[in-house]
Amino acid sequence: GLVNTKEMFAKAVAGGYAIPAFNFNNMEQMQAIVQAAVATKSPVILQVSSGARKYANQTLLRYMAQGAVEYAKELGCEKPQIVLHLDHGDSLELCKSCIEMGFSSVMIDGSHLPYDENVALTKQVVEYAHAHDVTVEGELGVLAGVEDDVCAEHHTYTEPDQVVDFVTKTGVDSLAISIGTSHGANKFTPAQCTRDANGILVPPPLRFDILEEIEKRIPGFPIVLHGSSSVPQDKVATINKYGGALVDAIGIPEEQLRRAAASAVCKINIDSDGRLAMTAAVREIFATKPGEFDPRKYLGPARDSLKELYADKIKNVLGSADKL
Ligand code: G3H
Ligand code: 13P
Ligand code: ZN
Repeated sequence: GLVNTKEMFAKAVAGGYAIPAFNFNNMEQMQAIVQAAVATKSPVILQVSSGARKYANQTLLRYMAQGAVEYAKELGCEKPQIVLHLDHGDSLELCKSCIEMGFSSVMIDGSHLPYDENVALTKQVVEYAHAHDVTVEGELGVLAGVEDDVCAEHHTYTEPDQVVDFVTKTGVDSLAISIGTSHGANKFTPAQCTRDANGILVPPPLRFDILEEIEKRIPGFPIVLHGSSSVPQDKVATINKYGGALVDAIGIPEEQLRRAAASAVCKINIDSDGRLAMTAAVREIFATKPGEFDPRKYLGPARDSLKELYADKIKNVLGSADKL
C-alpha cells in the first residue's frame, strides 16, 4: 500500500538526493506521475492541495492514489514506494479528515501564523498523525507570492535560529523552508533579475547561505522546498506560439535544484512545470489538429508530455532514479 515519508526521507538525506512531490488533480496527472516513477525506479510523493480536493473530490483522489500502487505494479514495479500527501493543509480538522481517509502524510502549513500559534497547531497535528503512522511536514518562513490563499509580496526567509525550537517542540518529520523559491510560473519580476550576455533573464540565486545555517542547526533533518518549478522556456514558447499569453514566466534554474537536492533537502515540490507541459501539448494539438474533438486525443499527448518531463526531473535534477 501507500507508505509514509519516514524511511524515504532518511535515505534521501543520506544519499544526497530528493524525492519528487508532484501535485495531481486528475487521472492523467496521476498516470503520468506513476509512469515516470516506475520508468525511473524512483520513490514518489503524490500530493493533493485544497484546490485539488475541491476540483476532484477527496474520495476519488484517495482511491486513485491507492489504485496508483496497483497500477505501478502492473507497470512492472515490484515494490512501489508511493506517498499520498496533503499539500498545504491549513487546519487540524482538514489534516484529521485526510488521515482518516488514508493519506500517509500531511503538511500543516502554519507558516503565516505568529510563531507560537504555528508551533501549537503543528504540534496538535503531529500528535494525531503519529498515532496513525502518518508523517507530518511543517513550515517556517513565508514564500513570496500566492500560497494557500495568502498572498505575500516579499519572502520572509526562514530564521535559522528558530528551527531547533520548532522541530523539537512540534515533533515534525520534515520542515519546509523559505530560501527564495515561490509558487507559480512567475517567480521573479524582470526587475529582480539580471541579464546574461545573450540578454536572457537570470533570476537571483536561492539563499544557500540560509540553507547551510539551517543544516548546521539541525544536521540531517529532512528539509522541503516548495515552489521549485523551473518554468522550462521551451514549454512557455510552445504555449505562446499556439495562442497562449504567458508574460515574463520564469522559475528556479535546475542547476540550483540539483545543488539543493544534494543537501538535506529531500523533498522538492513541482506543480507548475507539469501544468506548462500539459498546456503546451494541448495547445499544440488544438492548433495543429483542429478537427480533433476526442479528449483522449489531446489529454493522451498531454499525459505523455508530463511523464517525459517528470522522468527527466527525476533522472537529471532530483537524483532519485534507481532508489527503489
Ligand atoms: O501550492 C501550490 C500547488 O501548486 C497547488 O496549487 O492550490 O492551485 O492546486 P493549487
Ligand atoms: P511550483 O508552483 O513551483 O510548481 O510549486 C509547487 C508547490 O510548491 C506545491 O506545494
Ligand atoms: Zn507549496
